[in-house]
Formats: sequence, C-alpha cells, structure tokens
Amino acid sequence: MIKTICCIGAGYVGGPTMAVIALKCPDITVNVVDLSQTRIDAWNDRDLNNLPIYEPGLIEIIHKCRGRNLFFSTEVDKAIEDADAIFISVNTPTKAYGVGKGQAADLKYIELCARQIAEVATTPKIVIEKSTLPVRTAEAISNILKNTGNGVDFQVLSNPEFLAEGTAVQDLLYPDRVLIGREESKEGKKAAQTLVDIYKNWVNEDKILTTNVWSSELSKLTANAFLAQRVSSINAMSELCEVTGADVNEVAKAIGADSRIGSKFLKSSVGFGGSCFQKDILNLVYIAKSYGLKEVADYWEQVIILNNHQKRRFASNIVKTLFNTVSGKDIAILGWAFKKNTNDTRESAAIYISNELLKERAELKVFDPKVTKEQIFSDLDRLETRTEEENKSLVSVVEDPYEACENAHAVAVLTEWDEFNGYDWEKIYRSMKKPAFVFDGRALLDQEKLEEIGFATYKIGKG
Ligand code: UDX
Ligand code: ADP
Repeated sequence: MIKTICCIGAGYVGGPTMAVIALKCPDITVNVVDLSQTRIDAWNDRDLNNLPIYEPGLIEIIHKCRGRNLFFSTEVDKAIEDADAIFISVNTPTKAYGVGKGQAADLKYIELCARQIAEVATTPKIVIEKSTLPVRTAEAISNILKNTGNGVDFQVLSNPEFLAEGTAVQDLLYPDRVLIGREESKEGKKAAQTLVDIYKNWVNEDKILTTNVWSSELSKLTANAFLAQRVSSINAMSELCEVTGADVNEVAKAIGADSRIGSKFLKSSVGFGGSCFQKDILNLVYIAKSYGLKEVADYWEQVIILNNHQKRRFASNIVKTLFNTVSGKDIAILGWAFKKNTNDTRESAAIYISNELLKERAELKVFDPKVTKEQIFSDLDRLETRTEEENKSLVSVVEDPYEACENAHAVAVLTEWDEFNGYDWEKIYRSMKKPAFVFDGRALLDQEKLEEIGFATYKIGKG
C-alpha cells in the first residue's frame, strides 16, 4: 500500500497531477519537490493567484489540499527517502547540443533524477516516469537504479500524462484512459497494480490500461503525433481554402461530422505550439531515423515542416498586406500563450511570428491576459536574434488590450482567448491608424462585424 508519494518536478505536469492525486486520495501524503526555490515559493504563496501555473480549477484544489496532504518543497532527498512511490516529472526538452541536436530528447534531467534516487533510497521504491520520454527510457532509468543503488529493490513503471494545458484539471479528473507500462515479471505486475489502486480512487477500472513498458512509452509519442498531424492537415487545407475561396471552418465542420473523422483537433490556426507536439514528433523522427526507417521519419517530419510553414506564411502575409513594409509601424499582438487558458508560452506561434515581424523592424505592443512581461521578453531574448536592448526598444508589453491597439496599423490575434471576442471593437477601430487591419490567426472574431465597423480583415483559412 502506498502511503507517501514524491513527485520530482513541480511544473505543468507534476503540479496539477499531484494536486488531483492529493484531492482524490486524502490518505496519501503527496510531496512535490523541485530544484527551483522560486517555483516552490510560488506554489506555497499565500495568495493563490500567484501559483506558478495558471489552470482553470487548480486554485480550488490547492486551497483544499495544500498543507493537508499536499506539500511543496525543495528538499528532494528527504522526499525521495520518505516515499513509497516516486513520480519523475522533470522537463525533457529537445537536445540543443551534440548528437541528436534539434531532434532527440535531452535526458540529462531524467538521468540526474535517477542517480539521485539511487544514491538516496534505502527502502524499496516504485519509480514512475511521467515525463514524455523516448521509447526505452524506463530501461535506462532501471539500469541506473539497479547498478548504482544501494541494493534496494526498484520497480520502474511508465505512466504517461495525457493532460492538455488549459484543461489539465478536467483531463485529470475525467481521463479518457490511464496508461501504465510495466515489466512482464511478477514484480512488475505487482508494482503496476499498486498504481492502478491509486487511480481506482476516481477512475473506472476499465479505463486503466496496462501494457508493456515500451508500448506505453511509444503510445504517448504516437498520440501526440496523431493529434499534431490533424492540426497540420487542416492547416494545409487552410492555405488551399484561402486561394480557392473556400472557408476552412466550413470544411472542418463538414468533415468532422463524419464519425470516422470526428470533430476535435480540426481547428485551423497560426500553427500548433506547446511543449509536447514538436518535441515528441522530432523525437519520433529521430527514433525512426536511428532504426534506418527513412520513410517513416520523413512522413512525420512533414507535420513539423507544414507547421513551420503555417507560422511563416502568417507573418509574411501581414508584411505583404501592409504594403510590403512594416518598418516603424505599430502592430498589436493579442495573445502570447500557445493556446487559451494557460500562461505557458513554450513553442508558442506568437514568439515565431513576432520574431519575423521584428526582423522587418515592426514595433510591437503585446497583450496577453495571463502571460507576464518578463516571460514575453525572456522568450524573445532567448532567440538571440536581437540584443535585449533592441527587443526592449521595439517591443512593449501592456496590461490593457486597448492600449496595445491604440495607433496601431494592424492587430494580430495569435491566441484564441475568449475575452478577445467581447472587446469594444468599434472603440479599437477609432483609435487605430487607417486603413485598420485585423489578422485573425485563430478564426476567432466575427469577421462580418469587423468589416461593418470598417476594418480590413484576414481570417485564417478563409478565401
Ligand atoms: C498536448 C496533448 O493534447 C496532450 O494530450 C499531451 O499530454 C500534451 O500535449 P497541449 O500541448 O497542452 O497538449 O495542448 P493541445 O490542446 O493539444 O494544443 C496543442 C497546440 O495545438 C496548441 O497550440 C493549440 O492551439 C493547437 N491546436 C489544437 C490547433 O491549432 N488546432 C486544434 O484543433 C487543436
Ligand atoms: P513539464 O511541462 O514537463 O511539467 P516544466 O518545465 O514545467 O515541465 O517542469 C519541470 C520541472 O522539473 C521544473 O520546475 C524543473 O525545475 C524541475 N526539475 C528538473 N530537474 C530536476 C531535478 N533533478 N530535481 C528536481 N526538480 C527538477
């Protein structure tokens, strides 16, 4: 029986996942640990509006469980030692150096965790990989634990997370399925059952699937690749719709009504972002290539190529429409997060599109309801296209959407925040330079209404 859980990594995955486990299993103590003192301080902030991540419904759960059976700290060793089960939920970014640069997942954080667990643990542990990992990582973790440990028994399980940001709490409370990968041995099956027993507290048993470890690891990459592929497929059609006079939203509705296709993940956009899709596909491509499967690798790589194309063509369309020059022109950027209802900006299309506009010397005024000014500048500075001073002189981040649009030549809608629809667009129109343009990269706004007001509009996927 599990009495104490430790989760290493208090990020977008570890934080909400552990909050829901603590909520649903009041008899289990859940210790979430992280190297970052700032992040842990934010999780412990008395003002729940200062939690490090924004997810609808999360504040209520933290309010109920924090200090009861949910704890956040930087005392990693102690949490490892106290735990019966350890979730590894650290980041696995795409490798930025050496072999596999730009494609393979960087496993250094995972390896450090495994070594630390091996060093510290003196009682048997179940170690659960939660981070998205390339196939056969569990084997590597297992190897490190068994060869560097103190002779303690470790069972390694793979339990990939399928939550989507912005709906994390709902996805965790009502998952389509829970996937647990385990070794075929008697001990492996026993460890998996222990984890099944935790999830059974709120998930129907027929939704809890157990597989071998490799199937579980590969299923996560495959699920994300299939989802991203749908977005790239509809985005490919968006370009065709624009040149032929069709409307991609009408096409999406028509094809989504076919129950074999289904209506989800058919929304055309400025391109997908987020920490998973690109990373996981690059990873899949890398794995396929490393086994010499060129056609398989090329097939999936095309999903990324199309996504990059979608971002690039949106930016160049703005430049082209604004009479082929945006130099010195103010452009309002509405939305910086990679999707609505999150403050996460990893791989957000807004970063790429803004960078393209800045290369043309546009001046940007950015507004996002949840992303901080520091985050926006850090995203731009990390590109190393311009110095920090240059970014500061070309970009301002404002807290009022109307201020972002004032005197602008154009507004670009890059995240589908619901509130953008409720703005006083007549007021925005009056405050802008004429002709006033709206480039709607999310097909979010009422185009007819905008045109009635006087705006010149571009809506993604509409010819
Ligand atoms: C994804 C997977 O959905 C989730 O199961 C996995 O655990 C992690 O990766 P996430 O990246 O949080 O989740 O969000 P998701 O809703 O999948 O959106 C990813 C990107 O695709 C966003 O930029 C979103 O705007 C875009 N998207 C999504 C579209 O452009 N069109 C769509 O129809 C759906
Ligand atoms: P994800 O979206 O996968 O949750 P995040 O980057 O939001 O990714 O969170 C991962 C967290 O893991 C970060 O807060 C980082 O500080 C933490 N982390 C990375 N390596 C370690 C480690 N060895 N020990 C503790 N925490 C770690």
